Amino acid sequence: MINRIQDLLQEVQEMKAANAEELEALRIKYLSKKGEISSLMNDFRNVAADQKREVGKFLNELKETAQNRINELKDGFVNEQVSNDDMDLTRTAYPVELGTRHPLSIVRKEICDIFGRLGFSIAEGPEIEDDWHVFSALNFAEDHPARDMQDTFFIQHNPDIVLRTHTSSVQVRVMEKQQPPIRIICPGRVYRNEAISYRAHCFFHQVEALYIDKDVSFADLKQALLFFAKEMFGADTKIRLRPSYFPFTEPSAEMDISCNLCGGKGCPFCKYTGWVEILGCGMVHPNVLDNCGIDSKVYSGYALGMGIERITNLKYQVKDLRLFSENDIRFLKQFESAN
Ligand code: DAH
Repeated sequence: MINRIQDLLQEVQEMKAANAEELEALRIKYLSKKGEISSLMNDFRNVAADQKREVGKFLNELKETAQNRINELKDGFVNEQVSNDDMDLTRTAYPVELGTRHPLSIVRKEICDIFGRLGFSIAEGPEIEDDWHVFSALNFAEDHPARDMQDTFFIQHNPDIVLRTHTSSVQVRVMEKQQPPIRIICPGRVYRNEAISYRAHCFFHQVEALYIDKDVSFADLKQALLFFAKEMFGADTKIRLRPSYFPFTEPSAEMDISCNLCGGKGCPFCKYTGWVEILGCGMVHPNVLDNCGIDSKVYSGYALGMGIERITNLKYQVKDLRLFSENDIRFLKQFESAN
């Protein structure tokens, strides 16, 4: 009898049930009045008196184990039942963490929107460019020292292929394909061979604007610049133009805006001058028009170019340029925009 009890003990310890019906079948098999264990209990009467103590101990253990195992399996089903009942299919999904737009994207869009209101449409060009579109067509002479202004990345073994150092190359591409009137804004990434620090990076972003038509004058340029400055930095913003040099514009200028931190009174940010530089501009050089197949005797135009990082720094006072490309969520999360 002891052997039989031990076999059953092993069986009940290994009992498994896939559902409530299977569990009930097990209960009936082992624990019901006509079940295996009850019949052993009945047989117990016939056990010799001197073995009753030992056999009784085993029997009790078997019964207890069977009962516990059945309860254990039952608990499993009950829990499952509860969680199924708990499921509310009408409940909203778990909150999904939404990303935020990159600060440079926010500012790029803002710049494009402002020029969009002046009738400019967006044009794009390749980042891997040839010498013609980045330099030669833009009136940089072969050995012109102006080529040194920009530390260019050349593609190995082919000095004709470069990573564009400015988005002015897109003007050339558009003018080659399209006759005036041309009114475009070209946002994009540019590359320069600079040591990476808090104030310089080997890649950054620019927006270029180009307007070509008959009788476009410097006054038109100035008006567009003033409109842009006020839209971007607030209605009280003042602008000033300083003479400058770019091979592709004549005359050329750099534009400052009244410091948007101190309002022009002077602070550490504007180095107490009251002004901060934001972009380069000028009247498109007749050579550039001619290089691109546009008759410089009929048409004239203005161009301007600015760094998106620079404008973003002015708007948000980001002290370290590297933050823009490190993808640190703690930094990026601080910028939210409605669009
Ligand atoms: N391409 C110039 C740069 O990268 C910026 C620039 C200056 C663009 C004057 C222009 C311009 O269109 O007229 O520094």
